[in-house]
Amino acid sequence: MVVGTQWGDEGKGRFTDLLSRQMDMVVRYQGGHNAGHTLVVDGQTFKLQLVPSGVLYPHVTPVIGNGVVIDPMVLIDEMDRLAEAGVDCGRLKVSGNAHLIFPYHQALDVVAERHLGRNKLGTTKRGIGPAYADKAARVGLRVQDLLDPKIFREKLGVVLHEKNPLLAKVYNRLPFDLETLATQYLEECRPRIEPHIADTVGLLHDALEAGQNLLFEGAQAMFLDLDHGTYPFVTSSNPVAGGVCVGAGIGPRHVDRVIGVTKAYISRVGSGPFPSELTDEVGDRLVDVGREYGTNTKRRRRCGWLDTVMLRHAVRVNSLSDLAITKLDVLDALDPIKVCVAYEVDGQRRSSMPYHQSEIHRASPIFEELPGWGTDLSAVSDRAKLPGEAEDYLRFIEEQAGVPATLVSVGPGRDQFIAFSPVP
Ligand code: IMP
Repeated sequence: MVVGTQWGDEGKGRFTDLLSRQMDMVVRYQGGHNAGHTLVVDGQTFKLQLVPSGVLYPHVTPVIGNGVVIDPMVLIDEMDRLAEAGVDCGRLKVSGNAHLIFPYHQALDVVAERHLGRNKLGTTKRGIGPAYADKAARVGLRVQDLLDPKIFREKLGVVLHEKNPLLAKVYNRLPFDLETLATQYLEECRPRIEPHIADTVGLLHDALEAGQNLLFEGAQAMFLDLDHGTYPFVTSSNPVAGGVCVGAGIGPRHVDRVIGVTKAYISRVGSGPFPSELTDEVGDRLVDVGREYGTNTKRRRRCGWLDTVMLRHAVRVNSLSDLAITKLDVLDALDPIKVCVAYEVDGQRRSSMPYHQSEIHRASPIFEELPGWGTDLSAVSDRAKLPGEAEDYLRFIEEQAGVPATLVSVGPGRDQFIAFSPVP
């Protein structure tokens, strides 16, 4: 499994891409097109939102599991763009149990955010939260419903009966027409999606029984997890390692490695607490050098120093086996480099994650300073060639986390990484 240990945008996609070389299947298990993975392959940039990164390898079967929420128009558009770039999506499998996102979900996401005013969550406005809410309320429509037009229309009618008055009377928005939506989903989307619909749980288990290698690709991250993140400033799914069991239908004993992707500093998009946030010129520098703008929404990301209180918590909740550290090169010119190792909350030092949300909001960071290396790391491909200060920084992170770093990236290119130990 590859999971994010921060608030997303750690660079999970590039390691999923790297590890996909040895995989038979690459599986998404939660989230939707709120995710955005950028991959640079032979100088060509791919921006993926729904299709698992493994699609770029002809030997990999990409799978969208039952825990994902799918906007079919977005999926079709993504498949078309990949096809234009010469990437074949014919192997893509989509769970019939995955829930569909509709335009009313997106409309509700937008108006609910507006309604919250300055308390808004800063969602990606893709309809993710409202789609998961309908799933939990048992009124969602699933991918498999596309295969039965009668049931599809009936279910959609029931949902619109509730959504339309909500949109019109509470939020003063236009209602959605049943026939227009049904035609769009059943006549435009169904023929494109149907060839990909599969019993993905069965497929995964057949693959496991045949001794194949599976990679589960987390979207978003630990601190955006609905249960374990900084609620309510979170997404509506479970990106943590445990989410894979529910969102893909495999038991925990099948997972033998959980890689926590950790950026060498931290970023966050949207609202919510961020104890080690930098609001000064160092933060601006991280944004500029790290190109910290959303793949998806183009929003400027908030940046701060690495926070090992969060990292230790991520190690526990996800049972991380190792770390993949990204964007080490972004720190090249910074000196000193700070790391948040504990919080001060109400005059007390806390080295583990406060469980009360108000305490996280009140937490101020306690930093340790490490010397910078002042050298361009972008061409380093061997651990032995790292400057001593960069090696010390990595060791410090490993000690703080209590798990080893096995991969470190030093640039966006597919080969700009250092493998610290053979992949177990
Ligand atoms: P939602 O997932 O669109 O409902 O947004 C909820 C929160 O998660 C917001 O703070 C978003 O900025 C954040 N979020 C969702 N997806 C991503 C992602 O892929 N990277 C970073 N932040 C994300």
